[in-house]
Amino acid sequence: MPSEEVFILFQRLVQKKLGIYLSKQKRLMLGHRLAKRLAKTNIASFSHYYRYINSPENSAELELALELITTNETFFFREPQHFDFLEKHILPQLNPNKAFKVWSAASSTGEEAYSIAMLLSQHYQAPWSLCASDVNKSVINHAKKGIYQNERAKLLPQHYKESFCCKGIDEYQGYIRVKPALRQRINFFCFNLLDPMEGLGQFDVIFIRNVMIYFEDETRQAIINAISKRLSVNGYLFISHSETLHGLEHKFELIQPAIYRLQARCL
Ligand SMILES: C[S@@+](CC[C@H](N)C(=O)[O-])C[C@H]1O[C@@H](n2cnc3c(N)ncnc32)[C@H](O)[C@@H]1O
Repeated sequence: MPSEEVFILFQRLVQKKLGIYLSKQKRLMLGHRLAKRLAKTNIASFSHYYRYINSPENSAELELALELITTNETFFFREPQHFDFLEKHILPQLNPNKAFKVWSAASSTGEEAYSIAMLLSQHYQAPWSLCASDVNKSVINHAKKGIYQNERAKLLPQHYKESFCCKGIDEYQGYIRVKPALRQRINFFCFNLLDPMEGLGQFDVIFIRNVMIYFEDETRQAIINAISKRLSVNGYLFISHSETLHGLEHKFELIQPAIYRLQARCL
């Protein structure tokens, strides 16, 4: 485990690069997650490893270290109330002559984006597009492949599995793979929520779930300001049920727990 002093250096680095705030209680976790990189790079101490990843020629190692610090837990149709709301309240009100645009803004390995894509494919006949991004390159590569252990797809309703997934055979026994037609509907890319968002375009719905929980209020506020500018007026924002916009300045109206609608252009 890193010493307290070295932990503080990592803490600052992680907050600067990812926005993630590591509380003191995360010292052991940080040690566990980085231990295999120390072994792999043959570096004996956390302080040497810290110096190593901060030198410009080791930027690839810094990226790996940061990836190990992100928590990527996700699953299909997580927080099903959001998908019900999308299907029953948002889709019926859309103008079918205008493409419906959705962004899954911390998509991890893709289960959230594929859940949205399955729902839209099955329940929305007009044009739609879906972007899905994450700061972690490895999870984005996983998402693009669309291969999941059966165990991880337990909450994926059977009719979606049958329509949109193939069963793995041989070495892929025990896995499913999202069919190419659906995979091609999603634009997966790496994106850090701390970076400028102007180039991303405009969306009607943004899912930003189970990520702001790792940020402090100042970072959350900056992200909410930037995200608000990416949403069309009356567009919807979905956060996790374990998160809140409480205490932040914003122009959202709370519609249901964890579902907000943008009332007017923010700040
Ligand atoms: C717990 S997962 C949430 C996945 C999905 N949204 C869900 O609710 O199931 C959190 C994701 O946020 C990503 N993340 C953390 N910091 C980020 C940042 N600064 N920019 C973009 N993504 C970030 C992590 O890499 C991780 O994949």
